[in-house]
Amino acid sequence: MRLRRLFAVSAAGVAVVLGTTVAASAAANSGSAVAPDSLRALAANIGLRIGTAVIPFDLDHPDYQAIAAGQFSVVTPGNEMKWQVVEPAQGTFDWSGADRLVAFAEQHGQLIRGHTLLWHSQLPDWLTTGVANGTISNAQLRNLLHQHITTEVSRYKGRIWQWDVANEFFTDSNPSTINPNDFWVSHLGAGIIADAFRWAHQADPHALLFYNDYNIAGEDGTNAKSDAVFAWLKQMLAQGVPINGVGDQGHLDTQYGFSGTQMTQDLQRYASLGLKLAITEADVRTFVNNATDQVPTDHLATFAQPYEFGQMLKACLAVRQCISFTVWGFGDADSWVPGFFTGEGYATIYDVNLNPKPAYTELQQDLRLAGSGAPHRVPSGAGR
Ligand code: G3I
Repeated sequence: MRLRRLFAVSAAGVAVVLGTTVAASAAANSGSAVAPDSLRALAANIGLRIGTAVIPFDLDHPDYQAIAAGQFSVVTPGNEMKWQVVEPAQGTFDWSGADRLVAFAEQHGQLIRGHTLLWHSQLPDWLTTGVANGTISNAQLRNLLHQHITTEVSRYKGRIWQWDVANEFFTDSNPSTINPNDFWVSHLGAGIIADAFRWAHQADPHALLFYNDYNIAGEDGTNAKSDAVFAWLKQMLAQGVPINGVGDQGHLDTQYGFSGTQMTQDLQRYASLGLKLAITEADVRTFVNNATDQVPTDHLATFAQPYEFGQMLKACLAVRQCISFTVWGFGDADSWVPGFFTGEGYATIYDVNLNPKPAYTELQQDLRLAGSGAPHRVPSGAGR
């Protein structure tokens, strides 16, 4: 493991953010030694939480654990709170991964983003099979979902800072709409999304409840999806649905355009509704030599990749309601990207050997500057 000088940072300094019960308890438990130049310490200077998705059982590896604890102040289970994982057979639960992550976070003064309660993907086979063969009716499906949300949110009541209640409901088309073919919408109607927020709120009234999606902050060029999500949120809030925030996943690819300015404007627009913002799954992928080494094939990608990370962080920094910035895993070896996008990788901020990449330095530098503010310019001479 890389040697690192460790300094104790006061609990108050690490956990300035929120004024919520969860934040107070995380601050009280924060006994970890945190380096002052770590991402989490630099972010704490401005009340921002910097986060990562975690694979709980990778925490057995000392190098992985040291980075997860030392660099980040909020963690998200990449898979271990999804329905498929927590209830693999009907009525049989496996909370081992989720419990492990929650315990780790509390031990290290970190907050937790719960992910995710209502999504078309990673559902248990018993559920999707039952719906497909008609042994689970729509009325039963609705009850099962209510029960699932209540069980999971209640289990961690008071310990989850933000819940991604609903995930990825909008189409990628222009104009974008709630996807009528989505598993949940096609069986239970679009109103099920609002119900999920109501049920989550009943189970833990203090958790911040988020709508989470990709390409909803200018990443799609047309901004169509952002427009649709914004209009829907406005409608939901007018109806009193307990939604507290919007999570923009932030999965970028250097082969496409991306405007940090557009992202800032979109985040600001959500904030104008009274919502909090979070970047929830940031990564920037590019074409690589192979999935093992993940060396970019285009030299310019080594500049574009950290640049786009920096643009996302700066957009978050520019909007005061943006309370957390989470990367979707911190090392290339653990990234979901090579398994989903043939030929692509290099998407995270540490390389396959857990050495920090330029993207890490970019985030560190942005946070350092944000914390101290840019210095005033030196005088440049009379009249100039
Ligand atoms: O656990 C099994 C393992 O037993 C088996 O040997 C292996 C063989 O493929 O699969 C393992 O399951 C994989 C699981 O991740 C855990 O590693 C699944 O195949 C794989 O599909 C699954 O991928 C996850 C993906 O969501 C599923 O859509 C990624 O890890 C996870 O990072 C990713 O996260 C999503 C967010 O939840 C929502 N936003 C998009 C994001 C990226 O797709």
